[in-house]
Amino acid sequence: MRSTFAEINLSNLRYNYLLIRRKTKRKVMVVVKANAYGHGVIPVVEALNKLGLKRPEYYGVALTEEAIEIRQKSKIDQPILTFSPFCKDEINEYYKYGILPSICSKREIRNLNSLKLRKKLYVQINVDTGMGRLGLQFDEAENLIKKISLNKNIVIDGIYTHFATSDEFDKTFANLQLKRFINLLNKLKSSRIHLGIVHAANSGAILDLPDSYFDMVRPGISLYGYFPSMETSESLDLKPVMYIKSKVSTIKKIRTKESVSYGRKFIANKDTKVATLPIGYADGISRGLSNKMKIIIKDKLYNQVGRVTMDRISVDIENANVKVGDNVIILGKSKKYKIDAWDWAKQLNTIPYEITCNISSRVPRVYR
Ligand SMILES: Cc1ncc(COP(=O)(O)O)c(C=O)c1O
Repeated sequence: MRSTFAEINLSNLRYNYLLIRRKTKRKVMVVVKANAYGHGVIPVVEALNKLGLKRPEYYGVALTEEAIEIRQKSKIDQPILTFSPFCKDEINEYYKYGILPSICSKREIRNLNSLKLRKKLYVQINVDTGMGRLGLQFDEAENLIKKISLNKNIVIDGIYTHFATSDEFDKTFANLQLKRFINLLNKLKSSRIHLGIVHAANSGAILDLPDSYFDMVRPGISLYGYFPSMETSESLDLKPVMYIKSKVSTIKKIRTKESVSYGRKFIANKDTKVATLPIGYADGISRGLSNKMKIIIKDKLYNQVGRVTMDRISVDIENANVKVGDNVIILGKSKKYKIDAWDWAKQLNTIPYEITCNISSRVPRVYR
C-alpha cells in the first residue's frame, strides 16, 4: 500500500454526530453527498448505522447515482433523499432503490403529472426561500404544492429549504428565509395538506439558528469535524475526522543558492536538507499551497518548500535528524502541533469542504 493515506476516524464521526443530535434534540438527515465529503460514503453510513436507536433517520445525497451506490453497497434501510431535481428518466430508480427525489420546479410538477404512475411515489419538496438555486419559489409554492397534493399517487414525504447565509455572523437574511418558510408552512397547514417531515438546518443553522430545527436537522461539514465558516459560534466541540499521513520518501542535500522543484520558487539561503513526500496535487494537495504549508515530523513543524507537483512535495528539514521512512503528518496533530483543513483553506481562500472533498481517490482511506 502507498505510504500516503487518509486516516478516517470513525469514532470522531460518531462523536460529532451524537453532539449534533444532543444539541438539537431532533431527527437527523446525515448529508453524505460527494462520497461523504471525501471521507468514504459506505464506511460513514455503516459507522452511523451501528448507533441503534440513535442512528440517523435519513440520509441526504446530491445525485441519484450516489443514493444507488448506498443501496447497492450497504444494508441501510433509511430513506435517502436526493437534493437533485426530480427527473422522469430516473423514475424506475426511485422506485427500485427507494430514493426520494426533490420537487424543485413547475416543470417537474408538470412532468410528474404527465406520468401515469401505477404506484405511490414518495417525494420531498424543496422550497427556495432565498438560496436562488433550486426549489419552488416561496411565494408561488402554496398553489404548486396544492396541485401536487391532488395527485393521489404522489406522497409528500417532506418539505425543506436551504439557507444561503446561515454560516455568516449577520443572520438577517437567514432569518428572512426562515420567516418565508414558516409563513408558507402556516398557509399549507391551514389547507390541511400533508407535508411530512419539515427540515431546513445545515451546519451553520444547527450552530446558531435553533428556530430552524423543525422536525429534523441536515448537517454535513460539522459531522466531519469542521465549522462551516469562521463566523459561526463554536458551540459544538467538533473533532476532525480526516487525517492525512505519509512517510519521508527521500532526503537530499541542497546547497546555498540551489533551488527546489519546478519554476525554482524556493532557493536555499543556506545549506540545508530537503525531504520529499509522496503526495501531490493529483492527491488533492492544491498547487496553490506551494511554499505555504507546514508539515509535522516527529513533533516538529517544518516548511514545505517549492512548487507542489503532481505526485510529490518537498519539505525543508534543515539539519534535523529526520530519516527516510519517518512518519509524517500532513493534516492532523502531534503532541505540540496541529494542522487542520482550515489552515489550508485560509491559504487558498476557500473552506474546509473543498479541502476534504478534493482528497482524491488515489489516496487510500484507512478506517479507524
Ligand atoms: C440541501 C443541503 N442540505 C444540507 C447540506 C449540508 O450543509 P453543511 O455541510 O453546511 O452542513 C447541504 C450541503 O451543501 C445541502 O446542499
